[in-house]
Amino acid sequence: MNYRHSFHAGNSADVVKHSLLIALVRALQQKEGALTLIDTHAGCGLYDLDGDPAQRTGEATQGVLRAFADANPLLNDYRAAVQAVNPGAEPRLYPGSPRILAQLLRPQDVLILNEKHPEDAVALRSAMRDTSAAVHQRDAYELWLAMLPPRTARGVVVVDPPYEQLDERARITTTLAAACRKWAHGVTVIWYPLKDRATHSRWKEQLRKLGIPKLLGVEHWLYDADQPGIYNGAGLFIVNPPYAFTQALPPLLDALRAALAPDGHKGEIAAAWLAD
Ligand SMILES: C[S@@+](CC[C@H](N)C(=O)[O-])C[C@H]1O[C@@H](n2cnc3c(N)ncnc32)[C@H](O)[C@@H]1O
Repeated sequence: MNYRHSFHAGNSADVVKHSLLIALVRALQQKEGALTLIDTHAGCGLYDLDGDPAQRTGEATQGVLRAFADANPLLNDYRAAVQAVNPGAEPRLYPGSPRILAQLLRPQDVLILNEKHPEDAVALRSAMRDTSAAVHQRDAYELWLAMLPPRTARGVVVVDPPYEQLDERARITTTLAAACRKWAHGVTVIWYPLKDRATHSRWKEQLRKLGIPKLLGVEHWLYDADQPGIYNGAGLFIVNPPYAFTQALPPLLDALRAALAPDGHKGEIAAAWLAD
């Protein structure tokens, strides 16, 4: 396990992922019933944007700092979530998905976090000590299935792996199939990086074959043409997204595309159902 999210916190992928997570949980919270939020690959919870890892890559300048430089009110909820962990106007700390989800909790909701890396698990416990979250240090795929179905009728599983392992997509596909059998109406969010269109199309085809009736794919391509060998963007697969979320999605996606487009590029962001 070499991946450390502290090098990448607040990058463009985090902006899209965290903006959509906020919108999704808020849409589910339009109903009073309790939610269980399960973050299988939680990371450290809170990141120092002035720290050495973040400064070495400078990725936040293309992500959270662009979102802060953009006045679009559709990004207000995202900016407020980042602002909530920052005393000043400038974001110096970045809230990972655990801190963002913790901010959204109502008294009836439950938050379960998991991080396998020993150092990041310690950091996560420390970052979450003032919250009600339960923190685990287990294998994400084992925990994902072990937690289903949760005690509350509704909930969200967030799956955000680093894709260091060659079989990561295959493990997700297999675990998702089993998870849907255990909890057919649960909401699942799977983050993925976009490197090239061919690899992505192959995986989409495998996911399509699972026959999940409501599986939405969101794709964010940063550049106007594939840049060979580099990270070209990212996306989310969302199983059972609520109607209020999908209805509100198109303008939010366009706001994210416009805020995050690298200089000289328009970028592309779209959501489409995978099921035929
Ligand atoms: C992309 S980061 C998570 C970022 C976080 N979800 C956020 O949005 O702030 C992926 C994390 O998964 C952890 N990880 C990798 N493989 C894992 C596994 N098999 N089980 C649990 N955690 C794992 C890594 O240590 C890393 O911290």
